[in-house]
Amino acid sequence: MTRLAPGFLWGAATAPHQVEGNNVNSDWWQRELRTPGMELSGDAVDSYHRYAEDMRLLADAGLTSYRFGIEWARVEPAPGQFSRAALAHYRRMIDTALGFGLTPVVTLHHFTAPRWFAEDLGWLGPKAIERFQAYVRYASGILGDVEWVCTMNEPNMLAIMVWMSDPVRSAAARKLLTPTVADPLHPILPDPEPEVGLRLVEAHHAAREVLKDETDAKVGWTIANQALTATPGNEAKLRELRFIKEDLYLEGARGDDFVGVQSYSSQAVDENGVVPHPDAPDNTLTGAAYRPDALGIALRHTWETTGGVPIVVTENGIATADDTQRIAYTSEALRHLFAAVDDGIDVRGYVHWSALDNFEWGHWKPTFGLIAVDRETFERKPKPSLAWLGEVARRGGLEASAESGDKSASVSA
Ligand code: BGC
Repeated sequence: MTRLAPGFLWGAATAPHQVEGNNVNSDWWQRELRTPGMELSGDAVDSYHRYAEDMRLLADAGLTSYRFGIEWARVEPAPGQFSRAALAHYRRMIDTALGFGLTPVVTLHHFTAPRWFAEDLGWLGPKAIERFQAYVRYASGILGDVEWVCTMNEPNMLAIMVWMSDPVRSAAARKLLTPTVADPLHPILPDPEPEVGLRLVEAHHAAREVLKDETDAKVGWTIANQALTATPGNEAKLRELRFIKEDLYLEGARGDDFVGVQSYSSQAVDENGVVPHPDAPDNTLTGAAYRPDALGIALRHTWETTGGVPIVVTENGIATADDTQRIAYTSEALRHLFAAVDDGIDVRGYVHWSALDNFEWGHWKPTFGLIAVDRETFERKPKPSLAWLGEVARRGGLEASAESGDKSASVSA
């Protein structure tokens, strides 16, 4: 069995806007209201009130970590006006996680910003960095004993999202209903805007500086990894696209304590650019190809590009209504993770996306959760994959037969 780092995290993740409900002061709430065809987050799955129940389910199953976020739009409802009560809520979440034996991995920004921030030119506003830094400084007041802090989630996706409602820039991004669900009319994600990307790197470094001063946390950020590969003869095109889409951000992680790898699928690059996902029967509910091997590609590319920054897999999972497929996918992804560790890549944890079925940025249909939620009653129903992953966590790996690639053994729930 692969030897994992001591204290290896076995967890599941959520993001505030996707699970809490009624994030009315955020830019995404506004976007949902004014984008025709977009579903609303509404009450989401009411984790704002039910977080203890959610954490208990994860801990009881055998997981050792929970990744969740602090919502900036709640903590700073107006510029410079911070809410002690909102921050105290997140401190209670940290205490609850610790009480259940779950190591918290706390994200400070997961796609959403306060509405006032977005309305004032967002990340390109003259005071953007200063404002983010002020929020991070305020939030660090509750992070003194938190071991893992992510400044920002998927800046490379955020640098696409910021243009979704901009009337002038990036026509391609404006047409997107959401960047996380493949759109048959625009099957290829537009590139992140480099100008925004550079700003986000700056914001990450500014936040890291504050967190290093104010806390003992390991600080990093989490990058969406598309596990791009070159078709024969297109290696130069791959390098060019990969820089714009992810390497800028991976290079921004140099000097961090860890980098978060977030991996779901893989795509090829040919002379025309990224090749759309094939229309295959096993495509996931977001329209992505079923590619559990993507995690191995993502880990190796991240390790190489960051120059050996320790890695936490902060997201990996599949949008499927078939929980057996979720177990098969995750089992295969973990085999690739173990192979990377066997090759000397320093991986400190595996945090599955997602703990709960939740609001997938404008859609409710793609279900990534280890736990189903009845959206009328908010009743939680753990799926077999939760018990399965908890068992993997207890064992510290897959069963021997599954680790060697015997699929019949690896999918047993
Ligand atoms: C994001 C999550 C999202 C997931 C699945 C990542 O892009 O961080 O918020 O739900 O992937 O699409």
